[in-house]
Amino acid sequence: MPEKDDNIGLRILNYRLVRKIGQGGMAAVYEGQHASLKSRRVAVKILDPLLARRENMAERFLNEAEILAGLAHPRIVQVLDFVEQDGLMAIVMPYLEGMPLSRLLERDGAFPPERAARFFAEVLEAFAHAHRKGVAHRDVKPSNIMVLEDGSPVVLDFGIAKLAGQGAEMTATGAQMGTPIYMSPEQIHDSKRVDHRSDIYSLGVTLHHLLSGVPPYDTRTSSNFAIFTKIVNEPLPRLPARVPGYFQAAIDRATAKDPEGRFHDCRAFSLALAGSPSQPESVVDVPPRPAPAPQPDLPTLLDWPPSPQPEEPTPDIEPSDWSAAESRRDMDGYRAYLQKHPWGRNAQQARAELERMARPLQLRWLFLVAAALLLLAFWVLATVF
Ligand SMILES: Nc1ncnc2c1ncn2[C@@H]1O[C@H](COP(=O)(O)OP(=O)(O)OP(=O)(O)O)[C@@H](O)[C@H]1O
Ligand SMILES: [Mg+2]
Repeated sequence: MPEKDDNIGLRILNYRLVRKIGQGGMAAVYEGQHASLKSRRVAVKILDPLLARRENMAERFLNEAEILAGLAHPRIVQVLDFVEQDGLMAIVMPYLEGMPLSRLLERDGAFPPERAARFFAEVLEAFAHAHRKGVAHRDVKPSNIMVLEDGSPVVLDFGIAKLAGQGAEMTATGAQMGTPIYMSPEQIHDSKRVDHRSDIYSLGVTLHHLLSGVPPYDTRTSSNFAIFTKIVNEPLPRLPARVPGYFQAAIDRATAKDPEGRFHDCRAFSLALAGSPSQPESVVDVPPRPAPAPQPDLPTLLDWPPSPQPEEPTPDIEPSDWSAAESRRDMDGYRAYLQKHPWGRNAQQARAELERMARPLQLRWLFLVAAALLLLAFWVLATVF
């Protein structure tokens, strides 16, 4: 029997929640129906109650809301309202008819290169707009790009990751960490250092997935830790040979380990793909659409970088987690620390402690095996003579 969902039937502003659309790591999304205008549908994203209860969350929510509401672009989902009601925090957006890119790729596999280039150019326009406004997405991945029925992309969840905290911080609050696959190396090291260049990295990984049809890392066979290690140390796997080389060159640049080595902005990324030789139209299954209307109030791309926005203070939980591990001084304590802070300041020491503690265990095993062999030898001798 399906679990009862207390939010179904709930009224938020003028909307009644009629159905759960999906559940992500930090929120659940519901379809909302307008109380009187029945044909008006919205999607209501309700933040995980655990996150909503965190200190200063209401204040942070409103601050971020102001910034997100200022993002008006045809390829970015519009934020209709932010609601704080009885300890519940929600974002109201238009309901989008379509399919998340993640599901489309699972169903149909890779995009042909020319369709990928056209689709991705529109995604990059959305990001160029947000970055010009000083907003980084922080959680770029195919599940946050909706593909509408006409094949065009709309980006979801701009800046939401900042509200929830990221990586280890998120795990510590009890929220499930989203997939690590698209995370940038600096996001793994220290999520507070993240800026628009981290989006450029994750966009590079998303383009890789779009062209190869599969994510570059397999979460079924690799642990998060193994994936983090690869992200920090290894280049992405090569694209299949059928994909023209300029895509590989663009992805290599976008996913440089050092943010300084990446494209300076999304326009440069887009130009690297637009410089590609033109392809015949016949293989393209999505008709070309006119480019979105230019935003009248936008500063030019040359205005980059935007004036820095004050970072929301996020608590540094690493020292207290380390003292907790130090006071326990057992393997579980150090393991718990490493799970939350695989690249933390004391990670090396935690690993050394674990290794030291594992050594007597290994010796004990060696002793037991030797004793068993000795007994076996006596038994054989006793039976023979
Ligand atoms: N405006 C919208 N219209 C229609 N469906 C939406 C809308 N916003 C989100 N969804 C759908 O709701 C589901 C849950 O979204 P959510 O962002 O919470 O999770 P996610 O992106 O799958 O995972 P994560 O939490 O790791 O980002 C997804 O299937 C998403 O496509
Ligand atoms: Mg999402």
